[in-house]
Amino acid sequence: MLNRRNFLTAAVGVVAATGLAACAKEDDSSSSSDSGSGGGKKLVLGFSQVGSESGWRSANTDSVKEAAKEAGYTLKFSDAQQKQENQISAIRSYITQGVDVIAFSPVVVTGWDAVLKEAKAKKIPVVLTDRSVETSDESLFVTLVGSDFTDEGRRAAKILEKVLEKAGHKGPVKIAQLEGTTGAAPAIERAKGFKEVMDADHADDWKIVVSQTGDFTRAGGKQVMAAFLQSNPDIDVLFAHNDDMGIGAIQAIEAAGKKPGKDILIVTVDGVKDGFIAMSEGKINAIVECNPLLGPQLMEVVQKVKDGETVERWIKTEESDFMQDQAKAALPTRKY
Ligand code: AHR
Repeated sequence: MLNRRNFLTAAVGVVAATGLAACAKEDDSSSSSDSGSGGGKKLVLGFSQVGSESGWRSANTDSVKEAAKEAGYTLKFSDAQQKQENQISAIRSYITQGVDVIAFSPVVVTGWDAVLKEAKAKKIPVVLTDRSVETSDESLFVTLVGSDFTDEGRRAAKILEKVLEKAGHKGPVKIAQLEGTTGAAPAIERAKGFKEVMDADHADDWKIVVSQTGDFTRAGGKQVMAAFLQSNPDIDVLFAHNDDMGIGAIQAIEAAGKKPGKDILIVTVDGVKDGFIAMSEGKINAIVECNPLLGPQLMEVVQKVKDGETVERWIKTEESDFMQDQAKAALPTRKY
């Protein structure tokens, strides 16, 4: 996985190969002509998306598709439905087809070396977007375009301090954590960043009493929160790794006769519109933004990589944090 020390740069060269295989779940948005507006050959980008588990993911997919269209690329898009094996076969299909560049948002961090080596052997550069991987060979991908999830976890803990102060909470804090997909970079790193601040500054007063995955979905958040409330009815705080799980949890909290945002203080990550609506209704106390609108930056990087230009090893996204009292004013300006 990438960390703050990995601000190396990488130069890449590209050889475009040709081939003709199709992936079953592939959505090929190429136009009838393979020529760009200048008459040259259009850049062909193979993109394997994680799935459609959350509002964040839908916004990210739209951003990638729109930006590829805007850039005039031929986009071969596939949705892996949160399954690593689907991503691996999509990537293999892109290799066989000889796309110019492969981009993907890895569902989990491990298990990519074999397929990335196959891409490297065919001289097809790989750009990671949104999520990172753990690999034995750093040369297997060129760059990551995405957020610093560990910092998002730290920011969640820091904003929770403000939320507790605002709510006038005194004494020990019992925290429930709804984790993202097991083995996924944002789940691992958000938990790590949150714990880092907790261990450093709140070893005596904060405790994570229960923590489980809700797979980044509303249904998962609702189901797991209902179980949390059964085993730990006195939870003070919910830290949900995304808005969707937080929204699902709100339904479970209300079904248990409690008031979300008051009886249980809630901090989530993402900042999608539905999260902001819940926050403006007083049901979420703070949101740590994770920006899904990565398409334009990704297309820029893909072009540079194709042209053999040097790119930064990690191209980070700029993000903000929001407290409940900012929700109503911010809602109309939210782009996703
Ligand atoms: O990788 C980004 C995470 O994936 C988002 O925070 C979450 O909503 C999505 O499913």
